[in-house]
Amino acid sequence: MNILLVHAQPESTSLTRHLVNIATEVLTAQGHTVVESDLYGMAWKAVFDGRDFPNRSNPERLSFIGESEHAFAHGCQTSDVEQEQRKVLAADAVIMLFPLWWFSMPAIMKGWIERVWAYGLAYGYQGKGNAHRYGEGGFMGKRALLAVSVGGPEQDYSPRGINGPLEQLLFPITHGALFYTGMEVLPTFAVYGSGRLDADALRRVEANWRNRLEGLFDDAPIPFRLQNEGSYPDHHALADHIAPGQTGLAAHIADT
Ligand SMILES: Cc1cc2nc3c(=O)[nH]c(=O)nc-3n(C[C@H](O)[C@H](O)[C@H](O)COP(=O)(O)O)c2cc1C
Repeated sequence: MNILLVHAQPESTSLTRHLVNIATEVLTAQGHTVVESDLYGMAWKAVFDGRDFPNRSNPERLSFIGESEHAFAHGCQTSDVEQEQRKVLAADAVIMLFPLWWFSMPAIMKGWIERVWAYGLAYGYQGKGNAHRYGEGGFMGKRALLAVSVGGPEQDYSPRGINGPLEQLLFPITHGALFYTGMEVLPTFAVYGSGRLDADALRRVEANWRNRLEGLFDDAPIPFRLQNEGSYPDHHALADHIAPGQTGLAAHIADT
């Protein structure tokens, strides 16, 4: 299988890079082909702006969606974006590794999604607006996994913890950016208290991470509800009989 590791931490001694190195070693030993997008190392352009559209369809007004659709359809995207799209399309699984910064991914990685997730491919799939999203779309059939280094202790992210549960904080990424495009998203691998790991704790982290990597193609994904399987009759809101009375993010995850 082909596996793409996208990571966003330039420091070679960081926990994130340690997880990248283990992933490369474990997955390669399993016979997979591992490809990397080292975003800092590539000096990835994080900002999505007018330079992404050298051949504008409308020079008068910058419509990001309209220009993304035009550039993707007419082969006039920038070469860095095209190259990353090729890597994602060739991948059977995409693993994104990053330190938690302000409850999210570092800006350079958010910019990777903003620029690489083009209209016609990752959203507006086949130019059909929202017809194919949440479980369908250009990246259907691929697996996705987040591996996150978290500075705070696990209690802060526990069900009643002061920060809120990590999986809910990451919902815009797991559900809004990955499942949206059709990917199957695995439960997040998180390392809490990343700055305070002693040798024993680090060994446990390494063992858990190896275990999760072994299960990359077998573990059950987060059971996000599909747009087109009946839970959302108008493709916008949940039917009354699905998760009755429940609101908020958890309503979009089926009971297991
Ligand atoms: C800009 C910035 C924002 C951060 N935001 C958070 C945060 O929201 N929650 C948290 O628990 N830790 C936060 N941290 C701590 C990082 O998560 C921590 O430094 C990281 O997990 C260490 O892993 P690394 O060695 O891979 O960088 C932040 C750190 C930085 C530099």
